[in-house]
Amino acid sequence: MANKTYNYDISNKFIEYFDGRVKQVFFYTTEDCHLRCKQCLYKPNLFFQMNKRHEIPLNQMCELAQDVYTLGARKATIMGGEPSKYGDCEHKDLGRFIRYLKEIGYAYVRMDTNGQFEDDMLNLPEIKKLDEVSFSIDGYCPTINDFLRGAGAFDKCTKNIKRAVDLGYTVDITSCIHPMLLQKDKKGQLEIENMILFAQDLGVRNINFHVLFKHGFPMDTWTEDTAVKPEDWIVARDILAEKVASGAYKIHVRIPYHFVTQKEFDAHPQYYGYCPAKLGERLLIHPDGQIRICSGLISSKYCVAKYYDHKIVWEEGYTNELSDHDLDNPTPCTNQSKGMKCGNYCPLCFSFKPYQREYVWQNKLQWEQQHVK
Ligand SMILES: C[S@@+](CC[C@H](N)C(=O)[O-])C[C@H]1O[C@@H](n2cnc3c(N)ncnc32)[C@H](O)[C@@H]1O
Ligand code: SF4
Ligand code: SF4
Repeated sequence: MANKTYNYDISNKFIEYFDGRVKQVFFYTTEDCHLRCKQCLYKPNLFFQMNKRHEIPLNQMCELAQDVYTLGARKATIMGGEPSKYGDCEHKDLGRFIRYLKEIGYAYVRMDTNGQFEDDMLNLPEIKKLDEVSFSIDGYCPTINDFLRGAGAFDKCTKNIKRAVDLGYTVDITSCIHPMLLQKDKKGQLEIENMILFAQDLGVRNINFHVLFKHGFPMDTWTEDTAVKPEDWIVARDILAEKVASGAYKIHVRIPYHFVTQKEFDAHPQYYGYCPAKLGERLLIHPDGQIRICSGLISSKYCVAKYYDHKIVWEEGYTNELSDHDLDNPTPCTNQSKGMKCGNYCPLCFSFKPYQREYVWQNKLQWEQQHVK
């Protein structure tokens, strides 16, 4: 748009693709982290830092946030790496960034954290401006969680979840589903249900699940022995979906759907063909200068643009993550379709979670109304 001004010198192609379409932005503030979770999709960045710069400097992050706001985004997620390790050890830069986002008009600012901080970060006034804090915890007991996240992680995270609830934060839990959570306990109940009940007892608002698969993405090479089989997930998903629909849980449960038959896809292509990359719905901004849309491509060479020298430059050629997408038609997930083995099913976006209460869509996708079979 001719009348919009930006801090960065932004390629026309980037503006054309995202202006009026981008709804949310994810800031991968730092590549530092206390943990080395087995499944971490960000692992190469945590282990192997070619670049001296491990963080997005605060002034750059604010300028980028302003530009993405000008393009239309109203929701921001602060993550990493681990955002509680961003900047100085007193979280002043983190607090300044949160305050800045709220001041310029972001309506919903949330943070994803591993909950390993040992100080009183949650009591800082600027951290309290967050609209949501989401804690990542992958089991309801140390045996299950710490198998992925490392010894001691469960106790620290649980303590901080309780603290956040007590302090009045809106608290969510994000949990990765790995084979241990698809097993049954002695009473024959799926362990994932015990995870939901654990979240419920802690007093959180939502529990959100990510299922760990071998997706056919580069990240398969470093996500270790954490993947579940598609057929096992489909069985568990249908049990859970039925329970959620019957009101079995007191908290909101976000269940990723992941697979559908081709026949079912063809019956509702607009619905199942949801792809943030095709919609230009989000931006992921990384410390190494990459900007991408699909989180499945994290730590790969694929991106949509790069930022450097006060410019945002559209990625030309085959390393542009959109180069293989059919941008005009709904399809199963382009990236997973290339390498994922899921029998007679076609893969859907891992962000496709029916009934999810997603701030940026406000019912526009009608996921809250539509039933999946
Ligand atoms: C990369 S972490 C960054 C923020 C923070 N360190 C944390 O753990 O919450 C963001 C989210 O991605 C999840 N995650 C990590 N590896 C994943 C994978 N292979 N597939 C799906 N989600 C993954 C984490 O569990 C966490 O909820
Ligand atoms: S805490 Fe988050 S960033 Fe750190 S290793 Fe685990 S998933 Fe990755
Ligand atoms: S996972 Fe697939 S459907 Fe989702 S944004 Fe990436 S390419 Fe699109």
